[in-house]
Amino acid sequence: MSLRASPPTHVPVLLQETIEALAVQPGGRYIDCTLGAGGHAAAILEHSSPGGQLLGIDADPEAVKVAGERLKAHSGSTLLINENFVNLQAICIKYDFHPVHGILFDLGLSSLQLDSNGRGFSFRHDASLDMRLSPDQEVTAADIVNTFPETELAYLIKTCGEEGFSHQIARHIVQKRPIRTTLQLVRTIEQAIGGRRGKIHPATKTFQALRITVNRELEHLESALKQAVSLLGFEGKLVVISYHSLEDRIVKQFMHQESKDCICPPGTPTCVCGHTASLRLINKKVITPSLAEVQLNPRSRSAKLRAAERIITYDEQYKTIEKLCFSVKPKDNGWRKPTLLKRLQRAFLTP
Ligand SMILES: C[S@@+](CC[C@H](N)C(=O)[O-])C[C@H]1O[C@@H](n2cnc3c(N)ncnc32)[C@H](O)[C@@H]1O
Repeated sequence: MSLRASPPTHVPVLLQETIEALAVQPGGRYIDCTLGAGGHAAAILEHSSPGGQLLGIDADPEAVKVAGERLKAHSGSTLLINENFVNLQAICIKYDFHPVHGILFDLGLSSLQLDSNGRGFSFRHDASLDMRLSPDQEVTAADIVNTFPETELAYLIKTCGEEGFSHQIARHIVQKRPIRTTLQLVRTIEQAIGGRRGKIHPATKTFQALRITVNRELEHLESALKQAVSLLGFEGKLVVISYHSLEDRIVKQFMHQESKDCICPPGTPTCVCGHTASLRLINKKVITPSLAEVQLNPRSRSAKLRAAERIITYDEQYKTIEKLCFSVKPKDNGWRKPTLLKRLQRAFLTP
């Protein structure tokens, strides 16, 4: 019998629900902004076959390598890029990959990252306090822990970790500096606030706060969501799975705002914002994993899936059609209708 430990694997969360929300169709074009181990990507490629295409993005070069291996059989229809999704629009323009039928964000970390001994994401393994998704990033968790003033540390632990004992933790961190490893930090937090409280480990919230700060997760998400909308074709789907309330709040507010024609403050007598809806909510209520899924994969327990589809405003349709009409050269005393039709179809991504 072999005693070799099996390598960590990542079980894709809400897989069936994701494929349904994306309405994956043969020949469709999709972007997976958080490739991870390629679980969702593999299912998207299977359901979009024949003719489907997938652009996969991950900030972590290791994830791109692992996903590349897993998706080898689909190498002709995939383009895998080691990049941060904050550059989503630039990536799609560079590779001429737009408009698309669907975009997926499965936020957070994969089990490969959480279970890896050397990355510093988990308070269960002793490692240097790194927490960067990509080795190209400059700031590590150790830099923050060892250089931020106490008030700033307390602020980020409170706002990005929603930790009620942020001041006590920040004070202990400053007293114990330098802190170089995850277990040193765990011990410092335990000394600050005592042992286990309820179901979660006392270090959970501080680790979340540091990871969010190191990787600028919230600002990157806000920016990427806006970019995603502009890359969707008509009725293209935007699907986001989040794992904590800060992410989910951003996704919920974004989708709700983008599905409204006016976002003036309540009570404004006439609309002055000029905002028009670009999305329609697919599921008004958030989708969460079934009990069976949580039992099989406990890491799915906090997952929340929200989905919306792109609608094209009349204004956008008018401008696009006008632009296309002017760009088609009249030939033989008439419009070259098939060319115009083809360009219209491409613009609005109709089959
Ligand atoms: C939950 S995992 C995705 C798992 C994947 N859906 C699967 O089925 O294997 C999240 C992935 O998103 C990546 N990620 C997180 N934030 C990112 C960002 N801003 N840009 C690119 N990738 C990011 C992480 O490196 C991680 O690999």
